[in-house]
Amino acid sequence: MKKVIITGASSGIGLGVAEQLLRDGCTLGVAARRGVELQALAERWPGRVEWEAIDITQPDAVARLRALTERLGGMDTYVHVAGIGYDNPPLDPEREYTVVDTNAAAFARMVSAAYGYFRDGGRGGHIVAVTSVAGTKGIGTMAAYSASKRCAQTYLTALRQLAAVERSEVRITDIRPGWVRTPLLHAARHYPLEMRLDKAVRAVVRAIAGRRRVVYVDRRWACVAALWRLLPDSLWTRLRIRPD
Ligand SMILES: NC(=O)c1ccc[n+]([C@@H]2O[C@H](COP(=O)([O-])OP(=O)(O)OC[C@H]3O[C@@H](n4cnc5c(N)ncnc54)[C@H](OP(=O)(O)O)[C@@H]3O)[C@@H](O)[C@H]2O)c1
Repeated sequence: MKKVIITGASSGIGLGVAEQLLRDGCTLGVAARRGVELQALAERWPGRVEWEAIDITQPDAVARLRALTERLGGMDTYVHVAGIGYDNPPLDPEREYTVVDTNAAAFARMVSAAYGYFRDGGRGGHIVAVTSVAGTKGIGTMAAYSASKRCAQTYLTALRQLAAVERSEVRITDIRPGWVRTPLLHAARHYPLEMRLDKAVRAVVRAIAGRRRVVYVDRRWACVAALWRLLPDSLWTRLRIRPD
């Protein structure tokens, strides 16, 4: 049975992906800060889920990931979903810092630990990370969020190159969703091309199985990202990208 560890499995996309992978027959290790949610998942799937409360911004996060991996009896795939995000046009400095700390610094901490596990044991494995379409351009209303996701995407590209140079059998998949209706979004706002959670979860699970390098969720967002890439900065800066 395939052993998968998901960080950020207490709600939204991570929880949905966890439940789908369990239905597909995987054994899971799940992590997030809210142990109550993880424990409830483990109780719904007796004998199939190990869990560990991990705050990825804390220095003990890697030791906790290691402990979870040992309890699971190893790891074939690491799925990093943990992340936070806000619209922050006032640029509240504390929020900007926390977003970068979680989505970029702590991201590097956890993903590098997973890479080390797969490489150093000569085991090989698959690292999957949920980044965002927002990482493809700097978005004014969510400056820290878009910049932190760009950092994560560049980090994954770098690891892919490192794996090739080292000839380590570590596969890297970067999944970039557009807006998905989860607790991360403002409940009262409508977001352009917003997706239902169940639809996004199915696409993320397909992307994990497909093992491709970069996957946009969904096709409409792949087109949007391609269009954004074509725009010169002089035009991009005049666009208004924010929820209604
Ligand atoms: N929703 C969207 O529109 C959208 C679009 C593109 C990309 N994404 C990305 O998808 C991922 C999941 O987001 P979501 O929409 O499913 O939101 P969500 O429901 O708020 O889920 C976020 C998950 O990350 C975990 N998390 C946050 N900070 C953490 C920390 N310091 N340590 C450990 N776990 C932490 C949360 O668990 P705890 O709170 O229990 O720690 C939760 O399980 C994020 O990386 C997000 O950027 C979302």
